[in-house]
Amino acid sequence: MCGIVGYIGKRPAQEVLLTGLKRLEYRGYDSSGIAVISPKNNFPLVRKAPGKIKALENLLKSHPLFGVVGIAHTRWATHGAPTQSNAHPHLDCENSIALVHNGIIENYETLKDQLIKEGHLFRSQTDTEVIVHLIEKFYKNIPLEEAVCKALKLLRGSFAVAVIARAEPGKLVGARRGSPLIVGLGKEENFLASDAPAILEHTKEIIFLEENEAVVLSNDAYRVIDFDGQQITKKPVFLNWDIEQAKKQGYKHFMLKEINEQPKIIGDLLKLRIAKDNSILFKEQNIPLEKLQSIKNIFIVACGTAYHAGLVGKYILESLCKIPISIDVSSEFRYRDLLVDADTLVLAISQSGETADTLAGVREAKKRGAKVISICNVLGSSLTRESDGVMYTHAGPEIGVASTKAYTAQLTAIYLFAFYLAQIRKIVAESKINKLIAELQTIPQKQIQILRVQDNIGRVARRHSHLGSFLYLGRNLNYPSALEGALKLKEISYIPAEGYAAGEMKHGPIALIDEYRAVVCIAPASKIYEKMISNIQEIHSRKGKIIAIASEGDAQVKKLTREVIYIPLCAEFFSPLLVVLPLQLLAYHIALKRGCDVDQPRNLAKSVTVE
Ligand code: AGP
Repeated sequence: MCGIVGYIGKRPAQEVLLTGLKRLEYRGYDSSGIAVISPKNNFPLVRKAPGKIKALENLLKSHPLFGVVGIAHTRWATHGAPTQSNAHPHLDCENSIALVHNGIIENYETLKDQLIKEGHLFRSQTDTEVIVHLIEKFYKNIPLEEAVCKALKLLRGSFAVAVIARAEPGKLVGARRGSPLIVGLGKEENFLASDAPAILEHTKEIIFLEENEAVVLSNDAYRVIDFDGQQITKKPVFLNWDIEQAKKQGYKHFMLKEINEQPKIIGDLLKLRIAKDNSILFKEQNIPLEKLQSIKNIFIVACGTAYHAGLVGKYILESLCKIPISIDVSSEFRYRDLLVDADTLVLAISQSGETADTLAGVREAKKRGAKVISICNVLGSSLTRESDGVMYTHAGPEIGVASTKAYTAQLTAIYLFAFYLAQIRKIVAESKINKLIAELQTIPQKQIQILRVQDNIGRVARRHSHLGSFLYLGRNLNYPSALEGALKLKEISYIPAEGYAAGEMKHGPIALIDEYRAVVCIAPASKIYEKMISNIQEIHSRKGKIIAIASEGDAQVKKLTREVIYIPLCAEFFSPLLVVLPLQLLAYHIALKRGCDVDQPRNLAKSVTVE
């Protein structure tokens, strides 16, 4: 979960690298560093600092680096505390090679012991430093890229690396296995980055490196090779994101901007995928129609927020497509004795498309003959390249670590996929699908109505921001909404929060209820509304601090709590797309009131590319 940027061209590398790092800070922010080839003697000169990128920026103000070739890194610590010495870039014994790395080297201790025996001096506790000393060991009268590939072939684990060296100052080498790395092609300049936002303002012509591929860059050429040096032809793609999407556009935080983008993203997704005759367009897949028609079960795999979207998906797909749906978090799925075979369709959900556990789960399922469709937001990400079909969510770059717009875009994609499957399996009357589609198309406008009163939601949040723990309750399609609301709050405000199926209250959690705990009750109009009201009455009689999310016009819930956040009436089937907005805003405003770093919460990173 670190961020890498590399530059080779004619402009001052420091500025390009620093700006790129800032766009990647959501990937990790406990230390950062930069190395630039000195024009005086070609040595890679290094500056690095613990803490956020601001610390590095201040250091560079007083100790700037000059040169036109460089690499940079923002770190999410895996091995070794976030200190100056553990910050990347790391150098070899002769300070002639500099390297940055994203990933985990699982066999680094064995390699380190051997290198120490051979006389290499280590300056950090990181696994990364092993790589640069291995390169040093092999870098004898061979090109840098050959020494890099020799070293990488000895590694077990995941890596994306960028490397520069004194002996070949006009060369920048990148390589990857298990962690993302893209190549940006410019005019007399080229780039490396973990993720597109780092280089979007310079170029939109991108090459996505695949597993066990390396790239050799000069300022006017590129060559992609495998780890045995064989040249590989790669076709650049044009990334249709614009850099403005990766900026705050006047909002205080990326998270708030992304919450407010949701109606437009969903509206655009519906326009993109629903044809005039209401047929669902899903061409980005190569699974034969008869295969999709004959699938006997679907297994949903995902992590975190994406997993909560998958839980809603279970209700949606079972209800519409009458197919048994299993679901598990990817880290559990990947190690189970999977009952997955050629009759299984795996639905992998991931905003980044780089989550290590989800990728590993997909690979396990494919070994057993399953077809894989992914719901993903990042064009060309690893998961999309290992899937048999991809339904992109087109939500634009999601910078806030707490996922918001990606979640509702994933839900929308799931609804559309369910309609698609129901249509091709001919199990739902066309009239019913048409009615559902018409209701789904009203959602963006209903979300806008909720966002119009977000200041009220902020007030409700601040009135409860002092409480030490929260319980979120929901039923049926909104049980996952309760889980998602709790995750949003805990990951950005650090308040202990738990999501629960409301029907489980009497089986234990009701013991928690007292006047010191907030209970968020998700109670929109639904077939189980009366059951939710009973739960709220039980909480009310035990003095719990109730925040209710209810449908406009609901006067009954007002008798039990003054803290009601109303949402527009909508079919229960689509209510997860509405109730989550108040939950996101509650978390945002509570975290803000508590002075937390909303966009870069402690200990987290945007994409978990390591186990
Ligand atoms: C959600 O707010 C978290 N940032 C986290 O749980 C995230 O959803 C999870 O890591 C999955 O990421 P992915 O969608 O990129 O696979």
